[in-house]
Formats: sequence, structure tokens, C-alpha cells
Amino acid sequence: MFWMNTAFAQSFMPVEGSTFASKMDALYKFQVVASVIACFLVIGGMVYFALKYRRRTDKDQTAYIPHNAALEFLWSFIPFVIFMVIFGWGWVVYHEMRTMPQNAFEVHVVGQKWYWDFLYKSGRKTSGEIFVPVGEPVKLIMTSRDVIHSFFTPAFRIKQDVVPGMYTTLWFQATKVGDFQVFCTEYCGDGHSAMLAKVHVLPRDKFNDWLENDPYKGLSLAQIGENIFGQKCAACHNVTTEKKVGPGLAKLGAEVELEDGSKVAIDENYLRESILNPAAQIVKGYPNAMTPFQGQLSEQELSGVIEYIKGLQ
Ligand code: CUA
Repeated sequence: MFWMNTAFAQSFMPVEGSTFASKMDALYKFQVVASVIACFLVIGGMVYFALKYRRRTDKDQTAYIPHNAALEFLWSFIPFVIFMVIFGWGWVVYHEMRTMPQNAFEVHVVGQKWYWDFLYKSGRKTSGEIFVPVGEPVKLIMTSRDVIHSFFTPAFRIKQDVVPGMYTTLWFQATKVGDFQVFCTEYCGDGHSAMLAKVHVLPRDKFNDWLENDPYKGLSLAQIGENIFGQKCAACHNVTTEKKVGPGLAKLGAEVELEDGSKVAIDENYLRESILNPAAQIVKGYPNAMTPFQGQLSEQELSGVIEYIKGLQ
């Protein structure tokens, strides 16, 4: 089906970022095409017969037709063959996805309300972003600290529940360098929709560099945050209650009043937004003067700053 490879048809699917993607998509396309053909045959046939054999006069009588063995065999057997093809094909792809390669690069994944941590054997740790080499099998060994989450990367066509008290695994081999979105796809509470992460696929040499040069080795999140705070925030914010260009960040209280008189709760999401996009909610009495930090901090650094500010309360 030529049109299934057009840009238009492809735009319905996420990019194909792993070796599984094209296999999964081929099976999916087969199912779509088979379903569309079956739909036209069944609905089309129904409409055609309804028109052709409609009752025209009161005297019309339906012929006595008990059954047609050949026809009934065919309309059972052909769908059976199609379903068995889908089953067999699906089984082959699924089996490959569930057979973990022995030589895979392994990363531990810990899900918790509502973020993802990634732990590497070298001791590197990241939050909200995972780095992997392109063109090599990567195995994820996953568990949860609280409830059931689910690790879903549409571009790789992989998805697996992440369960407290046990390990579940996934593997993939990325085919493209780039950033790919991870979602939590098991409802896990208030922050479920914000439980996101990015897969950064790097060429092997850049990946080695990244793996070996951990600027935050041995530091806690709050220590990383203190570091960043000193470089980027301290010019305008005190770590006491005293105001500078912006508010002092100690003892912020439970909520804050905005310019329009409304109040918002000070929680991780408020802090995150106020760092990435400060103009969104300006505290009453302050100018809209802060640089947005969108795109300038890694998730680890951002979480670090948030943890550091939480520690000032
Ligand atoms: Cu974690 Cu939904």
C-alpha cells in the first residue's frame, strides 16, 4: 500500500526511533488495511444487497435459502487465516521484544510519584532524563518506590508496567540520535500527567563522554541545586526572607499572592514553572524581570534547585 508510506500517513504515527518501530508499524499497517478491506466488504455488501433485493411490491417473496456450505466455509476460513497471520506475526515481534539481549547496556529505572530516576552502573544518576547510545541494545531494569507506573516511549514502541516490590524489564535499540518523550501511562495520582522524561540518544563517543564526566558526582540533589543557585539565581534572590530583585526564598509559606490578587499554592510545580517560565505567575509587588530558564537546565539541575529551595523552608 504505497499511501501508507506517504508523509501524510506517517504523520499519524510517532517517529520511528528504534528497531522495533518499523516492525510494529508494519504489523499495524497490515491490520489497518485488512480491517478497512473487511469493513468495505461487509458494509458495502450489506448496502448492495439491501438495495438490490429490497422489497418492491407487496407480492415479493424471499426465496427459501437454508444455507450455502461453500460460502459459509470461506467467510469463516479466510478471516481465520488472517487472524492467524496477525497472531503469528505479532508473536514473532513480541517474542523479540521480550527476549533481553545478553550484551545490552543496562540502566536501572526507578519510578515514583511523580518522576523517573535513572541509575547507571558507573554511578551516574539522572532524574527526568535518560542517556543512551545509538545503535546498541539498551536494557531497562525497572521498579517503583510507591504505586504502579508504566514506562512508555512511543517513538520506540515500548511500554511496560513498573511495579513496586519487583523488577520488570524492557529493551530497545535506538536507531536515531535525538530526544524522545517518555510518558507514565498507568494512572498513578495527581501528578500522573506530569510524570514525564526524555530519552537522549547520543552517538557512542558523546555517550562515553557523558557517562564518564559527571559534574555532580557524589552530590545530593539539594547540593546540585545549591551549586546552580549560586551560579544562576543568587544575583537576584536571597536564601533568606529578605527581598533582592526578586523575593527572598526562605520561609515562603504555603501559598503566595499574585499581582491580580489570586493565590497559588507553593509546591514543586509552582517552583518549576516559576523557574522555567517566570512570567506565568508573578508574585505581587515584583517586576516581571526574571530570565526564563526553559531549556537551560537539565532535569537533574532543575530538580536540584527545587529541592534546594524546599530545604530553605
Ligand atoms: Cu506514574 Cu502515572
